[in-house]
Amino acid sequence: MAIQQKTALNLQPINQCVRVTFNYDVHFTKGLFQLDNPLLAQMIAADGETTPKQVLVVVDEGFLQYQDGLLKKLSAYAQRYEDILTFSGEPIVVPGGEAVKNDSRFIEQIHQQINIAGLCRHSYVLAIGGGAVLDMAGYAATTAHRGIRLLRVPTTVLGQNDSGVGVKNGINAFGKKNFLGTFMPPYAVLNDFDFLTSLNDRDWRSGIAEAVKVALIKDADFFDFIMTNADKLANRDMGIMERLIYRCSQLHLEHIAGSGDPFEMGSSRPFGFWTLGCSQTRAIN
Ligand SMILES: NC(=O)c1ccc[n+]([C@@H]2O[C@H](COP(=O)([O-])OP(=O)(O)OC[C@H]3O[C@@H](n4cnc5c(N)ncnc54)[C@H](O)[C@@H]3O)[C@@H](O)[C@H]2O)c1
Repeated sequence: MAIQQKTALNLQPINQCVRVTFNYDVHFTKGLFQLDNPLLAQMIAADGETTPKQVLVVVDEGFLQYQDGLLKKLSAYAQRYEDILTFSGEPIVVPGGEAVKNDSRFIEQIHQQINIAGLCRHSYVLAIGGGAVLDMAGYAATTAHRGIRLLRVPTTVLGQNDSGVGVKNGINAFGKKNFLGTFMPPYAVLNDFDFLTSLNDRDWRSGIAEAVKVALIKDADFFDFIMTNADKLANRDMGIMERLIYRCSQLHLEHIAGSGDPFEMGSSRPFGFWTLGCSQTRAIN
């Protein structure tokens, strides 16, 4: 009976095709929050909308402990560029590393602050920290009001050459990595090489390991460059590190756009060597 009714009405499916283009820049700088560095303010002004814009800051505690006076610097920056941006309340300081992705209270805390401050989709979340804090703050930003603009300031090598420049956000749940998350490109990424000097050797090297992997897959000359400069990298040569981060993030960005599948709807997983079946999925960026 139901089938007959459908046939009688003869309604064809309405085809819908939605195309969305995202543009964002990954910047490389030093002294990002110095008063004479206008990059952050320029980024916000570039949206072309009425200013000042509300900005909620989320910062990695593990990074902050090495940044004497960073919060004061941020507040001085906001005063200097008060016609362009205003901070929405005190910066939210969260633990660095995986702990911040394992506890959904941090997401709630950011959502609450977004609500209290009255941020909207024309406002910004400025996330400063390692890949874990960026993933968490990104997830919070992209789920409030269905997406508040995200400015990422990665402070680890991996953050600057991989996790911070891509389109994914997320936290862990049910014992699985990145079980909850979103695909949402950032508004912009601001890489400040000065921030890397306080990294311990483990976090300095883990970002190099990512570059080795990407070089092996994509760019033999880049691999040679890493091999030639291995000792300098181990001895924390910042000039070589800057070139490594630049090339690695460039290859990541090219892969995300060039794959034709930036949101991984098909089987494309940027630079992933392995994937388990959906029900088994774990430990994936
Ligand atoms: N979204 C993506 O596409 C993507 C891609 C790759 C990895 N990731 C995620 O990134 C996370 C790993 O990120 P990570 O390697 O940047 O490490 P991390 O975020 O875990 O940080 C490591 C430690 O370094 C500290 N720290 C951060 N900046 C510092 C600095 N400048 N000086 C001193 N200490 C500093 C942090 O507090 C933390 O204790 C994982 O959760 C992973 O899933 C995401």
